[in-house]
Parts: sequence; C-alpha cells; structure tokens
Amino acid sequence: MSRYSKGAIILHWLMAVMIIGNLAGGFLHDFVPTEGGQRALVMGLHKSFGLTIIALTLLRIGWRVANPPPAFPHYFTGGERLLAKAAHGAFYLLMLAIPVSGWVMADRNTRPLSFFGALDVPKFGVDKSIADAAHELHETLGWVMLALLALHIIGLLKHLVLDRDNLLVRMGLGSSRA
Ligand code: HEM
Ligand code: HEM
Repeated sequence: MSRYSKGAIILHWLMAVMIIGNLAGGFLHDFVPTEGGQRALVMGLHKSFGLTIIALTLLRIGWRVANPPPAFPHYFTGGERLLAKAAHGAFYLLMLAIPVSGWVMADRNTRPLSFFGALDVPKFGVDKSIADAAHELHETLGWVMLALLALHIIGLLKHLVLDRDNLLVRMGLGSSRA
C-alpha cells in the first residue's frame, strides 16, 4: 500500500486534532462555565487555533501541489474514487471557509482578536449584519464538517470491514500487510 508523503501525513494528523478540538470547543461552548474566565479561555484557544488552521491549510495546499497524493489502490471503483475526491475537496474548502467565517464574525464585538495572547489580529471591520451572517455560516458549515468527518470515518470502516484494506496505512498508521 503506497503512502502519502511525510509532510502530508504530519499536516493531516496535526490538523485533524486541531479541527476536532475546534468542533468540540465550538459546539460545546455553551456548556463551558463563564466563571473564572473559563469560557473566554476556551474560545480564545478556539479562535487562535482556528486562525492557525487557515495558515496550515494554505501550507497544506501548497505541499499537496508539490507532492501529489499517492494513486488510489487499483481496485477502487470509479464511484469510490469520485466520492473520495469530492469528500477530500470539500474538506479543503471547509478548512478555509469555517475559520474565515469565524474571523469575519469577530466584528460582532469590539474586543481585540488575540492570537494566543501574543498579538492582536486585525478584524475586517464589517457591519453587524454581515458579522451575524458569518456567524450563521460558521455554525452551518460546522455541522457540514461534522457530517463529512462521519462520512470520512464510515468510508475507512467500510474499507476495513468489507474490502479488508486498511487505508490508515496510507496516512502513516501501522504497517502494510504482506
Ligand atoms: C477550523 C476552524 C474552526 C472550526 C472547525 C470552528 C467551529 C465552530 C463551531 C462548530 C462553532 C459552534 C457554532 C454554534 O453553535 O454557534 C463555533 C463557534 C464559534 N467560533 Fe469557531 N471554528 C473555527 C474557527 C474559528 C475562528 C478562526 C474564529 C474567530 C477568529 C472562531 C470564532 C468562533 C466564535 C466566537 C464562536 C461562538 C459563537 C457563538 O457565540 O455562538 N472560530 N466554531
Ligand atoms: C476533521 C478532521 C479530519 C480532516 C479535516 C481530514 C481530512 C482529510 C483529507 C483532506 C484527506 C485527503 C488527503 C489530503 O489531501 O491531505 C484525508 C485522508 C485520510 N484521512 Fe482524514 N481527516 C480528518 C480526520 C481523520 C480521522 C479521525 C481519521 C482516522 C480515523 C482519518 C483518516 C484518514 C485516512 C486513512 C486518509 C487517507 C485516505 C486515502 O487512502 O486516500 N482522517 N483526510
């Protein structure tokens, strides 16, 4: 089984952890207590990691152009190839659209947008109506990403159980069977 490049593997897993953390922090933020600044801390990390994801996605797209992914296994059907390509493409779009919509919605308040407390990131300065629309989009796309993540994992399980091929090997986990 051929593998993705080292760089693609590192970026995939690093970003998967950050994105799953951000989905959790975003959807669960109502349950985080406001006392002692706990919610502010969680959302501060949410925003800072989210902004980091924009930079990492751009890096990842550049890396992918320079290091194209390995070919799909030869027994993949046309439908499987199409579905995998569409799902991966949608992930790339969401990895930009979600954090950018989050950034645009930062204009809902006048507090500085801090990057890990180290520097203040400029805001777009849009009207409240646009910032509110970005909020709606941010939430909707968050659900779309969660659904896509479920599909991503169901696809891998389908391969593991029905096709008896472990695609995790392609993403650097485990060793290829003889
Ligand atoms: C890949 C990166 C990101 C993901 C996956 C993500 C995901 C989410 C999700 C699922 C929610 C819950 C939506 C809701 O139920 O209202 C949320 C809320 C939020 N996100 Fe993000 N987000 C990301 C990046 C960002 C960035 C870059 C910012 C700002 C710079 C941001 C700011 C916020 C804020 C302020 C909320 C709370 C909204 C509220 O008050 O209801 N997010 N995020
Ligand atoms: C939100 C989190 C995740 C995102 C955004 C994501 C995104 C992607 C993308 C875009 C690809 C295509 C390769 C590329 O172009 O870089 C990919 C491939 C892959 N992902 Fe994920 N992924 C996530 C979580 C996971 C998880 C949790 C697993 C394991 C349970 C996983 C396992 C894999 C595997 C095995 C491949 C290789 C598929 C192949 O054979 O081509 N991913 N992922």
